[in-house]
Amino acid sequence: MADAVTMDKIVSLCKRRGFVFPSSEIYGGLGSSYDYGHYGVLLKDNIKQRWMSSMVQERDDIVALDSSIILHPEVWKASGHVGGFSDPLVDCKFCKKRYRADHLEDSQCGQRPSKKPGETSDCDLTGARQFNLMFETRVGALEETGVPVYLRPETAQGIFINFKNVAAIARRKPPFGIAQVGKSFRNEITPGNFIFRTLEFEQMEMEFFVPPSEADEWYRYWVDERYAWHRRYGIRESHLRIRPHDADELSHYSSGTSDLEYLFPIGWSELEGIANRGDFDLSAHTAASGTKLEWVEQDGSRYTPHVIEPALGVNRSMLAFLVDAYDEEIVAERERTVLRLHPQLAPVKAAVLPLIGKSEDMSGRARKLYEELRQVISVEYDDGGQIGRRYRRHDEIGTPYALTIDDQTLEDDTVTIRERDSLAQERISIARAREHVLDRLVAPWSSPKVDSP
Ligand code: GAP
Repeated sequence: MADAVTMDKIVSLCKRRGFVFPSSEIYGGLGSSYDYGHYGVLLKDNIKQRWMSSMVQERDDIVALDSSIILHPEVWKASGHVGGFSDPLVDCKFCKKRYRADHLEDSQCGQRPSKKPGETSDCDLTGARQFNLMFETRVGALEETGVPVYLRPETAQGIFINFKNVAAIARRKPPFGIAQVGKSFRNEITPGNFIFRTLEFEQMEMEFFVPPSEADEWYRYWVDERYAWHRRYGIRESHLRIRPHDADELSHYSSGTSDLEYLFPIGWSELEGIANRGDFDLSAHTAASGTKLEWVEQDGSRYTPHVIEPALGVNRSMLAFLVDAYDEEIVAERERTVLRLHPQLAPVKAAVLPLIGKSEDMSGRARKLYEELRQVISVEYDDGGQIGRRYRRHDEIGTPYALTIDDQTLEDDTVTIRERDSLAQERISIARAREHVLDRLVAPWSSPKVDSP
């Protein structure tokens, strides 16, 4: 059963509060493309930071890389993308719509949305044809003489082709990994379901190079490790599951893949993939480039490492966190919409609110606290409108703590700290406010939302 949180509610909140906007909206929009507003950028950045921190900062065996989006076109031949990275498509000659041949059951007829393609007497479907998902462009000034190249459809290949460079200076031997975050592009034709599937998206991919005999063990390790990461940042157990691929689903390079699936409003769908890629990539690039992408032991023996790859989309992860966090409840007979995001993911960590914005004493104290906090965390000062409205705005963007400066502050230098999830309010000394918030931000957190599908 899908969650009661609908995609419409998420889309509406994202637009209303400036997380995500439809791209090119004033020109009528462009399908499966979105722009990220202020809070969307901050949330995405926090997701990337948490991922990078878990991969690089908290470990000794993974290093970072940032490779080019446009690579030598031979890379994509060797990787199998030129020949094989395609979807089977059919066109309807009557309504001019295009469909995934393997998703006709889930598609709507272009003329009669209550029907599936092919079900009306007007439908005139072509046979299935393979359609490559890579965007092509040209390097060079002239259309006629420029060299055709591709926008990368995954960040992974940039890592494989740098294996030799990194291995030479990383001061690590297999098992070791290379992590990368960056944009990828795919000419997706299936409906995007908001930011679940988009034409351009950021990926967080890590290629973990291991001795061949250890590949299965490390594959299982990374499936568990990645499952734990999503749980650590609040995804509820009831909404996350591991689904090993059947043999007929495996990509050309994979000898084992598991999807971490999330219960999105569209049903259980892939959130992240963890693949055992064997030696496919390093061997393919060795054969195509003539450069040996191998590991050489001190005794001179050599082998091609096998690769375990966890790959997660930033936007898809953001959508899962938003859906998991979205909550509505009645408080004092009023509906409250709240994003129960993990405090470390929340775009704004604390709001500083003078109870009476026009009071110079209160706003002066509040400004001082705000200036102190903004040195270390993302914080907002807000003195406009009734305090209840200000709280509600911050609930909707997921701000975990609100610090209110009131009459009592002027008497005893204390402020109230209001907790987004429990709505509990506590008085703390203004001098300790910074330390207090920082302590709470690093404390373990789990979603107070009901943990059932
Ligand atoms: N290097 C392996 C690879 O790219 P993938 O399953 O095609 O594998 C990995 O992609 C992850 O990237 C997916 O699990 C998903 O989170 C994200 N992703 C893939 N295509 C996407 C798209 N069109 N829009 C948003 N995210 C996408």
